[in-house]
Amino acid sequence: MVAQNPTVRCHPVAEAHWFMECFAFAERRGMELLAAWVWTTGDLDAKLEFGRHAYEDATHAELFLQRSTELRSALPTYGWQPRMLDLDTLDQVFRALIHAPTLASKLGALYGALKPWTLRQYEAYVREGDPIMEGPTLRLLEQIMVDERRHIAWGQAFLDALVATDLTAQREAEEWRARVTGLLAAPAAPLVPAGSPSDPLVRFVGVQPASDPRMHLVYYTPGKGPSEEVDFDPQSETEIQQVMLSTLVSVETEAEELLCRILVEYPDLPWTMRLQLARQMWDECRHAASQRRILEGLGASLGTWPAITYINRFVGDEPDVLKRLIVLQRVVEGTSVDQHRPRGRFFLEQGMIALVTMFDYVLADEDGHIALSRWIPVVAGDDPARLHTLAAYQVRKEGEFSDFSDWLVSKRRDLQRLYQPAGAVSAR
Ligand SMILES: [Fe+2]
Ligand SMILES: [Fe+2]
Ligand SMILES: [Fe+2]
Repeated sequence: MVAQNPTVRCHPVAEAHWFMECFAFAERRGMELLAAWVWTTGDLDAKLEFGRHAYEDATHAELFLQRSTELRSALPTYGWQPRMLDLDTLDQVFRALIHAPTLASKLGALYGALKPWTLRQYEAYVREGDPIMEGPTLRLLEQIMVDERRHIAWGQAFLDALVATDLTAQREAEEWRARVTGLLAAPAAPLVPAGSPSDPLVRFVGVQPASDPRMHLVYYTPGKGPSEEVDFDPQSETEIQQVMLSTLVSVETEAEELLCRILVEYPDLPWTMRLQLARQMWDECRHAASQRRILEGLGASLGTWPAITYINRFVGDEPDVLKRLIVLQRVVEGTSVDQHRPRGRFFLEQGMIALVTMFDYVLADEDGHIALSRWIPVVAGDDPARLHTLAAYQVRKEGEFSDFSDWLVSKRRDLQRLYQPAGAVSAR
């Protein structure tokens, strides 16, 4: 008989599969929670970092899902008690967090309690796992733990800075950290009345995305025009570029917000599509962050110039997710690349390399985003009436967008030198 080393623990395949499904659910919900907070958080620094973490949590969910499909036991159950997936309890914790009302309470709840709890589950699995038989599982857990530790460190540093001079924020953060810690230690059932693990965490009908008070946003609504008169009067090439970048930061942030809203409100879309939309969302965060960095490098700040904001006004509370995607991926992005290419060439001739590299990467990313609109007919399915409705909607939105473009080109010198207002077809 072969002697067994009693100190080596190995999760049976069926148990490992169970863990992978639980972890995948927690990461997917984590992505949706952060995506919801992108909509409800004004502070641009937090809004962009929440978007990045949401994407990374989506990739963590994907790794766990892939591994779960590899872990199919062919043997009768042994060495562990089959457990029902207690996703309801976990789901209820996420549903409690969604109500954290302030940035400090969000940071305290997620980065002070839920993410550290999740990290401890991963650490415990790695400690108990067999490094030989469970190598693939431990390897992906160790990769994910690196990301989670970075998320927690960012959240705690951001919170420390936020509460340094604000006793109310400090109290809110601590209250929510303690509350979530308590829920995870001894979950009561039910924590909140409604919802099941397959329902959206939240819906935002009638709720506009929160905006950063440091920005001066001007909202353009189809049929109504701008929320206030704007009359840019830049006095130099630097100021022309500042005006352009101010609106780019705003519009890229809107693209992030719209994608996050879709990720939260449509959990039934195909997972592969959602993962790709999450990646698009992260790209939009990168674009906004890069444009903001150049804007500040040119001596301006977020509120120096009015920033035009329109994507979410064009979409409104449109319930058909495919119409939302048509506005973003076909109407806005499909035409903005036509504008970014000549911009990139113009700034290359001027030797403005920071702007050139930014547009170079944005253009490379946007080709992928436009290609994602291939999901629209896939999700619509073989339904000629629906496809006809979607095509008519696209035509209507392109008309509204053309009106908006004419208005914006009439206001912006950086656009006027690339386009004649009468012939303008795109503006961003
Ligand atoms: Fe994660
Ligand atoms: Fe973008
Ligand atoms: Fe994009």
